[in-house]
Amino acid sequence: MKQTITTVIEELGSDNELSSADLDLVNQARSATKLAYAPYSNFKVGAAARLSGGGVVLGSNQENASYGATICAERVLLASLSVTNPGEYITTIAISYNNIVALSNKQISPCGICRQSLLEHEISHKCQLRIIMSGLNGAVWIVDGATSLLPLGFTSLDME
Ligand code: THU
Repeated sequence: MKQTITTVIEELGSDNELSSADLDLVNQARSATKLAYAPYSNFKVGAAARLSGGGVVLGSNQENASYGATICAERVLLASLSVTNPGEYITTIAISYNNIVALSNKQISPCGICRQSLLEHEISHKCQLRIIMSGLNGAVWIVDGATSLLPLGFTSLDME
């Protein structure tokens, strides 16, 4: 028997097609790229999440001369959220980037560790978070939840 896993991605030609609430979040993610500390990659990532209480939390990547100590924007955001808005959960997260040495017109795709961390957030808060992926311009991708980006992910449910 073979099984097929399908990922549904909503693709928008540009940010013009976003709702005003989503565009606001995307623009906050783009602004958050200015908060990145990325002297090694010159790839500045910003993230902005709308919370269950209506507020917004930001994140940006924080690099280190010991490269493995780098923390991605998404996980900076998750850590910030847990201490600034305990108990709240993410309804939508927008992720964007500014590549200082190249174009930034292709949507970003979160790394594997961040996908795992976003999935943990969903499981621990019993929520589902929309993920909006963009560059500074160009096409925008939207998925309905972390599982769309990490099918078959390992979670606490696998240890029951
Ligand atoms: N990065 C993020 O912050 N988020 C991602 O989803 C992909 C990669 C950062 C890590 C590193 O500082 C730089 O982008 C290049 O990999």
